[in-house]
Amino acid sequence: MREFAERTLVPIITRDMERLIYTLCGIKKPRRILEIGTAIGYSAICYGFAAPEAEITTIEVRERSVYKARANIEEAGLKDRINVIHGKAEEILPDIEGYFDIIFIDAAKGQYRKFFDLCEKNMTHDTLIISDNVLYKGMPCDDSFIDERRNKTISRRMKDYLSFLSEDPRFETSLLAIGDGVALSYFK
Ligand SMILES: C[S@@+](CC[C@H](N)C(=O)[O-])C[C@H]1O[C@@H](n2cnc3c(N)ncnc32)[C@H](O)[C@@H]1O
Repeated sequence: MREFAERTLVPIITRDMERLIYTLCGIKKPRRILEIGTAIGYSAICYGFAAPEAEITTIEVRERSVYKARANIEEAGLKDRINVIHGKAEEILPDIEGYFDIIFIDAAKGQYRKFFDLCEKNMTHDTLIISDNVLYKGMPCDDSFIDERRNKTISRRMKDYLSFLSEDPRFETSLLAIGDGVALSYFK
C-alpha cells in the first residue's frame, strides 16, 4: 500500500507516525476510534492491527478513495471492524454518536478546528485526540516557508488551531516533531 501511495501521490502517514500509532494503541487499548481522512485506508488499517479490539469509523470525501480503502480493508481482513463513511466530514460528523477513545484528524489541513469542534460531543476525559501534519512543512512557524497563496490561509488556520489546542484550559496538548508534526491532546 505504501508503494501504491508513493506512486500515485496519495499522502499517507509516515513510518514514524505509524510507530507512534502502535505505541499509543498499545498503551491505551482503544475500543472505539474515529478517523477523519481515510485516503486509501492505510492509517485505518494500522489502527485496525494496532488496536485488535477496536471498532473504527473513518470518513473520506473522495469516492474513488473510498472504493480503494474498502478494497484494501477487505484484503487486510478488517472489514468487520472498519466502517468507511463516504462524505464530507463536516456533514457526517454531526450525526456520529457516542464517545471515542481515539480521534485521529488527518483531512483538509485548513479545517482542523472545525473538525475538532464537531467532534467535541464525542470526547470524554479519556479521549486522545491525535492531529497529524500540524507543522504543515514548517509554514505555521515561519512565513518564509509558505510557497503559494492557498497555503497562506491553511498555514494561518493551522497556527490558530495550534494556539487553540495549547491555550484552551480544558485541554492538555503536546506537539511532537514526528512526520510533519503531530499534536496529542486530551481533556484535562
Ligand atoms: C492525508 S490524507 C489521509 C491519509 C490517511 N489518514 C492515511 O494516513 O492513510 C487526507 C484525506 O482527507 C480527505 N479529505 C479532505 N477533506 C475532507 C473532508 N472535508 N471530509 C472528509 N475527507 C476529507 C482527502 O480526500 C484525503 O484522502
